[in-house]
Amino acid sequence: MTSLANSSPMKILVLGATSGIAEATCRIWASQGASLFLVARNAEKLAAVASDLRTRGARFVDTAVTDLDDTTQHPALLAHAVNALEGLDAAYLAHGVLGDQTAAEQEFTTAEQILHTNFIAPVSLVTWLANFFVQRRSGVIAVLSSVAGDRGRKSNYVYGSSKAGLSTFLDGLRNRVDREGVTVLTIKPGPTKTAMTAGMKGSEKFADVNAVAKSIVAAIDKRVDTLYVPFQWQPIMFVIRHIPERVFKKLNL
Ligand SMILES: NC(=O)c1ccc[n+]([C@@H]2O[C@H](COP(=O)([O-])OP(=O)(O)OC[C@H]3O[C@@H](n4cnc5c(N)ncnc54)[C@H](OP(=O)(O)O)[C@@H]3O)[C@@H](O)[C@H]2O)c1
Repeated sequence: MTSLANSSPMKILVLGATSGIAEATCRIWASQGASLFLVARNAEKLAAVASDLRTRGARFVDTAVTDLDDTTQHPALLAHAVNALEGLDAAYLAHGVLGDQTAAEQEFTTAEQILHTNFIAPVSLVTWLANFFVQRRSGVIAVLSSVAGDRGRKSNYVYGSSKAGLSTFLDGLRNRVDREGVTVLTIKPGPTKTAMTAGMKGSEKFADVNAVAKSIVAAIDKRVDTLYVPFQWQPIMFVIRHIPERVFKKLNL
């Protein structure tokens, strides 16, 4: 299997490039001399990330400021990125929100917003990208889902269901496009130290973002289908998925 790291130049589109996990991943790609097209909604943060990646050795860095919730903008945005990079080897979807579970339990609009950002917007992006890569009979679509999508829990089932929907969508898409030479990688991180988890109880014990990023780069290079990261989350989620519902519904998870 050809490693992306060995194919030159590596052209990567990053959606949600100011995410902590995305930034750490891009730092590795920059050091490998990749060409990067970065998309985020915060212009100031995006400019800082782009400038850092240039100094770290990226061959080419271009950016676009967009709120990815606006799906009407996606086709033009993606076509623009492909033009700027003069091609595309991989797309990496990293944007997402944890959202306010307590508010979402009371108000549908809060739940809808979480589902839109984490599920509907990625479906829009990935649909365009999959069709683009199928036409070229190559490409990698790597998407940050979550272990939270493996089983609904009372503490975060709105976020969890957005990621469950996303993971299931990606399973089906993979089944469709694998035979067309396109890789779909579902990334399921466990709790990782980023802005998203900064205030959480026990966050000092969460996974190191640079180690998570290293595993993601390796999984993309190896064209893996699903990555649990850190790896111990695979057996942990296997156990959690198999707890009988009559027991699970009594737990405070
Ligand atoms: N950290 C974890 O423990 C963990 C675990 C499992 C899965 N994940 C997933 O990994 C991904 C990255 O998370 P992270 O930990 O790196 O968190 P993060 O640092 O908070 O990054 C989330 C990013 O998403 C961006 N974003 C949110 N809504 C957007 C929108 N409508 N348009 C454009 N950008 C938008 C945010 O932009 P702003 O900075 O402008 O708000 C931010 O850059 C997410 O999908 C998350 O669900 C994280």
